[in-house]
Amino acid sequence: MRLDVVTIFPDYLAPLRLSLVGKAVAAGIVDLRVHDLREWTHDKHRTVDDTPAGGGPGMVMRPEPWGEALDTLAPPGGPQPRLVVPTPAGVPFTQALADEYAAEPWLLFACGRYEGIDQRVIDHAGQRMRVDEVSIGDYVLAGGEAAALVIIEAVVRLLPGVLGNPESLTEESHTGGLLEYPVYTKPAHWRGLDVPPVLLSGHHGRIARWRRDQALRRTARRRPDLLARLPAEALDARDREV
Ligand code: ADE
Repeated sequence: MRLDVVTIFPDYLAPLRLSLVGKAVAAGIVDLRVHDLREWTHDKHRTVDDTPAGGGPGMVMRPEPWGEALDTLAPPGGPQPRLVVPTPAGVPFTQALADEYAAEPWLLFACGRYEGIDQRVIDHAGQRMRVDEVSIGDYVLAGGEAAALVIIEAVVRLLPGVLGNPESLTEESHTGGLLEYPVYTKPAHWRGLDVPPVLLSGHHGRIARWRRDQALRRTARRRPDLLARLPAEALDARDREV
C-alpha cells in the first residue's frame, strides 16, 4: 500500500518509522512518503495560512499550496489515491472504515492545522478522487497529524503480513460489535489477585462462554450504544441471560 502524508510538520510523523508500522515500512508492505506542504509555497515566508473569509477567529489554510501538492502527488488523468482529510467535522473513523482503507492501494492524508483547510481544496479534489473528511473522536486536536497517526496505525495492522498472528484480529474489540473480554497471563496469583480459575480449567467451551459473558457485560456497562446497535441474530439465548 502506498501512503502519502502532507503536513507542515513532517517530523510529527516520525513515529511511523517505529514499532509495527515502522516494520511494515521497512519490509516494503507500506510505501510511506511524508511531504512538507511548504515545498509548494513560493513566497519568502512560505505562507500556508490566511484569515478566514467572512471573519472570525483563527486562520485557514490557503488553497494554492494544497492544490499544487495534490497535482504533484496525484497528477490529474493518472491513478488517484483515496484522500483522507482528518477533521473534527468529519465522519467518525471506525473499524469498518479501517477495513475499507486496508483494501485501498493508495491513501493520501492531508493534515490541516489552524481552523482547517479551505473547503475548495476538498471540493476540487473530489472531482477526480474519492475524498473522506474523517474524525477520530468528539474532541478537538491542534491539527490532523495525530489523527493521521491513529488512522494509519489502525489500517496498517490489518494489512496481510503485518501482524505475527492474524488470529488476534478475529476476537478483538470492535470486530464482532462487542468490546473485548479482559485478558490475563502468568503468574496465576499476583498481589492477592487470581487469574479467573475457569481460564486455567482447560475447558475450551467454558472458557469461550466466560469470555463472551465478560465481553457482553463490559459492553453493556461501558458502551450501551454498541449493544443497542447489535443485530438481533448476533445474540443467542445464553447471551440474553447475561
Ligand atoms: N483534527 C482536529 N481534531 C480532530 C479530530 N478529532 N479528528 C480528526 N482530525 C482532527
